[in-house]
Amino acid sequence: MEEWINGLILLILAIGHFELWVTFINRTHALPIHEPTLKKMRHITYVMLLGFPLVLFGAVGLYSPGVLVGGEWSRLSFWWKPVFVLCVLGFLGFLVSVFRHLFYRVPRLQTESHSEMIDIREKLGHELIGDGPYHYLAGLPFNEIFCVEFSRKTFVMERLPAAWDGLTILHLSDLHFSGTLTRDYFGELCRIAGESQPDLIIFSGDLLDEMHCLDWLDETLEQLEAPLGRYFILGNHDWNQQSEQIRTALTRRGWMDVSSQTLQLEYAGHSLLIAGTEVPWMGEHPVLPAQRGEGAADFLLLVSHTPDNFYWACSQGYDLVLAGHTHGGQVRLPVVGPVFAPSVHGTRYTSGTFYRKKTLLHVSRGVSGIHPLRFLCPPEFSLLTLRARPVVET
Ligand SMILES: [Fe+2]
Repeated sequence: MEEWINGLILLILAIGHFELWVTFINRTHALPIHEPTLKKMRHITYVMLLGFPLVLFGAVGLYSPGVLVGGEWSRLSFWWKPVFVLCVLGFLGFLVSVFRHLFYRVPRLQTESHSEMIDIREKLGHELIGDGPYHYLAGLPFNEIFCVEFSRKTFVMERLPAAWDGLTILHLSDLHFSGTLTRDYFGELCRIAGESQPDLIIFSGDLLDEMHCLDWLDETLEQLEAPLGRYFILGNHDWNQQSEQIRTALTRRGWMDVSSQTLQLEYAGHSLLIAGTEVPWMGEHPVLPAQRGEGAADFLLLVSHTPDNFYWACSQGYDLVLAGHTHGGQVRLPVVGPVFAPSVHGTRYTSGTFYRKKTLLHVSRGVSGIHPLRFLCPPEFSLLTLRARPVVET
């Protein structure tokens, strides 16, 4: 066989191997495992991702059987064969991810979408990189961490009462205060978000990675106001910190904690239920009032840190789910799309809008991350407008 074809086969096997380790790291990061253990898993993964292609091309390609230098596949050692089968399966999984990314279409219920790119560093005119974790990544060329997308999306919701037509929700997620990006960055971002004057504000978790940043709340989330209130849950990075202290700090500043519970408010003659879940890291899924034998609300909104709770939310009959956690993958490759995403679904729900069984899911790419690195995946906060018009999704 031609050497270049053999090279292509080795490349496919190497990509398949890469996909297997990415699958492992994505799924483990979706589980309630503390950061020190996850960090060890990541280090093992990095070694395997770099080491395997070297061994593959070196051993099989050049040494035994040396398929890149005239060797025959028939002389391949038996022990490589099960490895290659796994790599082929990995490559098929890789193809599925790529096709899913390329053929993603927003649901028809999302009728409008506009975005405004705001370069916060340029706007403020001074340096916004601090001395927090991984700060050396922040200044890399083409890094998009300071160029935030303010997305405005309109969703037509089948069960939205007509009196609520035009209701706006500011969806913020994954602030990750750590000191790597300075307080000014988040202060300006919240100031811009507040100018949109939403009816309701939702924060879907991961407030910080360093507890000393907790007092940044005074100049950020505390400044936001909405007539129907501000609601939050925490995320896995908050779970790795002193989560109860974070919870207390937010509630003291007027934010309502909806984790593991439901809150019902009356608005324009109808009832809105806001529930939250921090599963699998903290608490438990909320129980709907209707399941306790109490009256059902007119519209059900769930705040979930991870999109992994989407299927559960569908089974419960939620109308809208707001999630974050996956950061859009943070780094997206041309054609391939996102690669790393801490979800049991891999990259399937990394960001965007999804619809299943009458439940609409909006996954925010979030504002920041512990690793200050973004490529083809800018930070995001969203103003969601809900419209009342029955539409049948096909
Ligand atoms: Fe996060």
